[in-house]
Amino acid sequence: MKLIGPFKQVVTLANLPLRGKLSDEQLEIIVDGGILVNNDKIQQIGNFETLKSENQNIEIETIEGEQIVLPAFVDSHTHICFGGNRANDFAMRNAGKTYLEIAESGGGIWSSVQHTRNASEDELLKTLLERIDFLISIGITTIEVKSGYGLDVENELKMLRIIKKAKEQTKATLVPTCLSAHLKPRDFNGSNQEYLQYVLTEILPKVKEENLANRVDIFIEKSAFQPQESKDFLLKTKDLGFGITVHADQFTPGSSRIAVEVGAKSADHLEATIDADIEFLAKSETVATALPGASLGLGEKFTPARKLLDAGAIVAIASDWNPGSAPMGNLITQASILATFEKLTTAEVLAGMTFRSAFALDLEDRGKLEEDLKADFVTFKTNNFQNILYNQGSLKAEAVYIDGEKV
Ligand code: NIG
Ligand code: FE
Repeated sequence: MKLIGPFKQVVTLANLPLRGKLSDEQLEIIVDGGILVNNDKIQQIGNFETLKSENQNIEIETIEGEQIVLPAFVDSHTHICFGGNRANDFAMRNAGKTYLEIAESGGGIWSSVQHTRNASEDELLKTLLERIDFLISIGITTIEVKSGYGLDVENELKMLRIIKKAKEQTKATLVPTCLSAHLKPRDFNGSNQEYLQYVLTEILPKVKEENLANRVDIFIEKSAFQPQESKDFLLKTKDLGFGITVHADQFTPGSSRIAVEVGAKSADHLEATIDADIEFLAKSETVATALPGASLGLGEKFTPARKLLDAGAIVAIASDWNPGSAPMGNLITQASILATFEKLTTAEVLAGMTFRSAFALDLEDRGKLEEDLKADFVTFKTNNFQNILYNQGSLKAEAVYIDGEKV
């Protein structure tokens, strides 16, 4: 057992509801607090001096200066296993070129597929681990990682095996997701439906056999997969025993409805979601995930997080870190900016990056500082938790703990 503290503020996020709007008055903030850790779990949270006197002769990890602590963040949507770089897409987009012009000049998702296919396994693993280390350094200890730049049996499995290797080499929790239905690859000889059938019969059974992922994602969009074929595909993946998540309503509305109808864990993007579908999502268990990094990367509007929260949805915030639409990777900056545009309270933003995004990944053992939960937390050198969003990502995490140990 070990006592860590004293902290100027312990922001526990305890007792906050899973869904709907939150006010900052609902936040439990323990002043001059401490965290009692037992192995990899939180044993107790409370006043530091009280915990100290109640637990004589235990190890004390003293916190120097004024620091605050909160649950470590959970990034529930990333594409951080990739080869190459799409800075030229970004520059062309900013110079006013269209999606088609960018694709025709060798950019777009297909270019990342080629770079990822051509990259060596060592190179992919190395860059993936570097991105994971960056995320840990900003306080994120649980990271979802998608495939989706392989788009054939060999390369999708290559990506998922690399994610599995990374999982063995990092202390962060990695949650792999199979996104073979990202796009029909240009070298596939057949229709969209035939490609989805190929994913179902050739890729997913092997993913299962090797235990590489238990979640499946699909990009439902005019330029990717159409609503009905996607729904049929998702129902079949569900029959195979996979959890489901969907890239929904990024540019065209309608697919978040499908996500809810098939019982998806989350519907992510939602920049184009219409009011009726906001209501539909809000009545469901499907987490609505805002991806402000994609809005910032593309110069497009933000997910209507305010309306979703007001309607009672479970709203998570994730980075979508990928080489194309969301190259930044700094979830704290992105969430802070989303807060200013969507008028979100600090409590709503913190909940969206912790226990609400953990719920989207079926990880209900984390995201709050509460007894028996995983001892993952992040500290900042400041005396007031409001400074985290106020500084829009430029206040760096001081220390990050995974399973009770500083990493
Ligand atoms: O979540 N929308 C589709 N997929 C990614 C973008 C991937 C890429 O551009 O490489 C996204 O934004
Ligand atoms: Fe994405």
